[in-house]
Amino acid sequence: MGKFKGIERNLPEHGDREFSRYMRRAFLASSGFDHEDLGRPIIGIADTSSDYNTCHRDMAQIIKALERGVLEAGGLPLVFTTSSWNEILTAPTTMLYRNLLAMETEELIRAQPMDAVILLGGCDKTVPAQLMAAVSADIPALAVVCGPMRTSYWQGQRLGACTDCRRLWAAFRAGEIDQAGIAAVEQRLCASGGTCAVMGTASTMACMCEALGMMLPGGASPPSASAERLRHAVESGRRAVVLARDDLRPSKILSASSFSNAVRVLVALGGSTNAVIHLCAIAGRAGIELALEDFDRIAVQTPLLVDCKPSGKGYMEDFHAAGGMPALLKALSAKLELDAFSVSGCSLAGLLAGAEEPGDWQSVIRSCDAPLGPCGSLRVLEGSLAPDGAVIKAAAASPELFKHRGPAVVFDSPADAAARIDDPALGLGPHHVLVLRNAGPVAAAMPEAASLPIPAYLATQGVKDMVRVSDGRMSGTAYGTIALHCSPEAAVGGPLGLLHDGDIVALDIEGGRLDVELSDSEIACRREQWVAPPLPARGWQRIYCAHVLQAHRGADLDLLLP
Ligand code: FES
Repeated sequence: MGKFKGIERNLPEHGDREFSRYMRRAFLASSGFDHEDLGRPIIGIADTSSDYNTCHRDMAQIIKALERGVLEAGGLPLVFTTSSWNEILTAPTTMLYRNLLAMETEELIRAQPMDAVILLGGCDKTVPAQLMAAVSADIPALAVVCGPMRTSYWQGQRLGACTDCRRLWAAFRAGEIDQAGIAAVEQRLCASGGTCAVMGTASTMACMCEALGMMLPGGASPPSASAERLRHAVESGRRAVVLARDDLRPSKILSASSFSNAVRVLVALGGSTNAVIHLCAIAGRAGIELALEDFDRIAVQTPLLVDCKPSGKGYMEDFHAAGGMPALLKALSAKLELDAFSVSGCSLAGLLAGAEEPGDWQSVIRSCDAPLGPCGSLRVLEGSLAPDGAVIKAAAASPELFKHRGPAVVFDSPADAAARIDDPALGLGPHHVLVLRNAGPVAAAMPEAASLPIPAYLATQGVKDMVRVSDGRMSGTAYGTIALHCSPEAAVGGPLGLLHDGDIVALDIEGGRLDVELSDSEIACRREQWVAPPLPARGWQRIYCAHVLQAHRGADLDLLLP
């Protein structure tokens, strides 16, 4: 048995350590804990359940299962609540609060006695925030998620949040579905508790936990409230006690190999572009170099293997039924860094020795010999509109728009776009490039507004996609030919802020370019006239804007880097 500190850890300063111990025992006794309990390793469980986070509504059952596992292995589980941010119920964007949750979770881990922590997250930003916290606090830590939603049906069509939310809303805007139809769809999109039913950000980040080695195998995909989800939680509870006794910290697990594997898995999944920002932030906390060039280098060598929306047709239920992450890792094994370590206590090579190849009875997880799509489902773009890079999900873009030149129509903010995009007086055609600026980290904490809707009068003519460019993000469930995260953003003087209506924007996905066709002298002239926008006056938004890094550095706060 290894060493652990239990209630001795993080004693408050009273100027008398024995008094501090005595007081701590006294207050824990008030919860019924006796000397036997207090001699066990303490396993903190970070609980992100909230009535405001409908995705997490099954967490109470998962917490019971985690606690049972911890107790069975001889630990003492102590649940602590943190803030919880749901994508749909949080304004202006959950991205504003990812770093706040990371900071809050880190401080709660540091301040309270715990020998290991189980991070129970799910909805998009909760998982990266918890990983960032665990890396910085660097105590033994293990990730668990609530799991994805189940799908349902409407008029014979299978439905799942939230790619279908967007697809059917676009059909409603195009006049293909009436008011009664969209009202019926609204009632069926979210069929159960759990995170979005497709390979959106939540499920992508759950898969990233497994790929990084921070989650026990098979934990990313069991549906919320399923028996497998609960059994994985019991196993995770037991494992957390071993991690505590062995002092197996994130700094002993995460390495350049882990991040290389995570990026490769992200590309094979056709996963969320938001994971690029989150992986950069987590790597930044760990002091591991991870640049956009690394994403592109790995992306062009990695085929699309997973047939899940929005890059394919299936849902997380299908991915899970096909074997989930263990099967995908097995399919990718020839391209992975097999020396990467994990919370299971062995290397990826050891884990994959017992994993099954994706069976030929399913078509959701493909092999590298017969992939779903070519290499490069995710690409990094560079050029005069994004000197520090931008990203695009090529797997969710329209092939006919991979190479496109068109005049820009510029929206100065998400509110400006909402007010004007359907105005026929703009005279837009399918060849225009819709530009949304001032949606970057400093200007707006990167709302998921970059997937601007197709103007209604073009949608009714059958236009399904247009090139869009932004310094903001899009939801992991969204699709279209959308260049995201242009860095540096407009609000700090990036070239997007200098663009005028009618400037010609050129996108070349295969060439990795995003440019504006302007002379250097014209750009210099416009830059002289550019004025920085004011920062918010007070509170968290003020702190956030003053310290947030650009997207290509993970949009973490500079004061939270190691
Ligand atoms: Fe919570 Fe999609 S809104 S995971």
